[in-house]
Amino acid sequence: MAEKKKVLSCIQPTGDIHYGNYFGAVKNWVDLQAKYDCTYGVVDYHAMTAPYNPVKLRANTWELIFNLLAIGIEKENLFIQSLVPEHTELCWIFNCFTSYGQLQRMTQFKDKSADTGKGEDGFISAGLLDYPVLQAADILVYRADFVPVGKDQEQHLELSRNIAQRFNQQVGKEYFVLPETLFTETPKIRSTADPKRKMSKSAGEKHYISIFSEEARIRKQVKSAVTDAGDTPKGEMSEGVDNLFTLLKASGKMEAHASLMADHNAGTLKYVDMKEAVGNALVELSTQFKDAKADLMTDKKNIKNQIKYSSSLIRKRAQETLREVKDLAGLINVKAGQ
Ligand code: TRP
Repeated sequence: MAEKKKVLSCIQPTGDIHYGNYFGAVKNWVDLQAKYDCTYGVVDYHAMTAPYNPVKLRANTWELIFNLLAIGIEKENLFIQSLVPEHTELCWIFNCFTSYGQLQRMTQFKDKSADTGKGEDGFISAGLLDYPVLQAADILVYRADFVPVGKDQEQHLELSRNIAQRFNQQVGKEYFVLPETLFTETPKIRSTADPKRKMSKSAGEKHYISIFSEEARIRKQVKSAVTDAGDTPKGEMSEGVDNLFTLLKASGKMEAHASLMADHNAGTLKYVDMKEAVGNALVELSTQFKDAKADLMTDKKNIKNQIKYSSSLIRKRAQETLREVKDLAGLINVKAGQ
């Protein structure tokens, strides 16, 4: 049997997972595990590139690990970036194969250095500029074939390919395969409070629904969802209603979706029914996630150790790449006897 293709993706430990993240990305990560050899990282080194709090960083890293396990990521596939120092070692080597000008021109760097990545005193870290090189190392250290990410990461993927190509050219060998973006059609979830914007944490509490939320809160947020901002052209579905249909479909409630859509087409759709159905669907999912998480939390210490162990096994693959890369790059390698 042919070997499974390798999938790699990473996520920053910035706390909670909301339904936008879930349906837009991490549910896909769960599903990909059936078909590919998947490796998923919680990238705590990346989270240091903007001003941060060390106590919160560690707490968020573990929180995200438990959240990912609760939604169905297998622990063998999961690692914590700072437990695999080869990422940062490869990052240094890659720095020397990366154009400084290209880094300065990255959209994310330009946005973040103008905004969230800046300290109160205007401090912008060199880490923020170097962020995409570390990301390239995350991907290439496992020689991943596919990287499931959203469109906003396409520029970072392009840079990863540029770095791989430049390295290959320099060492005269097609050592790195060029990683491809794995675009999967995932639903784009909007804020229920303001369907004009996407569901996101940065917009504030009412703009996202956490997948671990209490039932009452989920129902309340869905009940108060904006259905029509009054600017929908006649005969068209408003963004708010469209968002509720999207949530229903994403939750796998196809029958309810079909019957409510028939109501909509007949002009008899009652928003209360729609919201009731969406509320039920999300509460059902969240109940599963919360139960799974509560289970994991009873065995917290043991699970943390298992993640440290899986990180150490994943590290062995990274070490193998580093040995070969150092050989090719003309560095001294203890094991290779040079
Ligand atoms: N930059 C990614 C994001 O913000 C996170 C990330 C870091 C990543 N390293 C990665 C994604 C490697 C894919 C592969 O979403």
